Amino acid sequence: MADSKVITLKVNGKTMESVAGPHKTLLEVLRDSGHVEVKCGCEKGDCGACAVLLNGEAVDGCLTLAWVADGGEVKTVKGIGTDSKPHPLQTAFIQEGSVQCGYCIPGMIVAAKALLDENPDPSDDDIKVALSGNLCRCTGYTRIFSAIHKAAAEMREGARTNG
Ligand code: FES
Ligand code: FES
Repeated sequence: MADSKVITLKVNGKTMESVAGPHKTLLEVLRDSGHVEVKCGCEKGDCGACAVLLNGEAVDGCLTLAWVADGGEVKTVKGIGTDSKPHPLQTAFIQEGSVQCGYCIPGMIVAAKALLDENPDPSDDDIKVALSGNLCRCTGYTRIFSAIHKAAAEMREGARTNG
C-alpha cells in the first residue's frame, strides 16, 4: 500500500498542509484541520452536507480523495462570507427563515453559490438540478428556494448599479 504524503491546499485563502494516506478524503482532511463548518453526513455522496468549492466547482468532500485535491483551492461556507460581511446568499437564508437544524445549510450555500456563479437568474428547475445532491430533512426546501431567488435578485441588482 502506498505511503502517506503531504498534501497542500489553499482553504479560504490560507495555505495549509496535511499528511494524508491514499484513502483519506478531502472531508476528513478539512475537519481534522478544524474546518468543522464542513459537515459530515452520509459519507457516501448522498446528502451534500460536506459540499465545498474545489477550484470553483461544488464537490462532495466525502467523495473527493485528498490526493486528488492536492494543490487545489478550497472554499468552505466560511470562505464564501463572514459574520461581518456575509454573502447575499447567507443573508437571504436568514431573512427567508431557510434554516431549521442547520446541518445541511453549509452544503446548501456552497451548492447555491456554485449555481449563481454560473447562472445569475436561475429558475426553480435550475435550482432543483443544482441542489439535487443536497438533502434537507427539516425545511421542505421552499424557503431555501426563496432565499436563492432573493439572493440572485439582489446580486443582479448590485451588478446593475455597480456597473
Ligand atoms: S457526507 Fe458527503 S454527501 Fe453526505
Ligand atoms: S435545516 Fe435541518 S437538515 Fe436542513
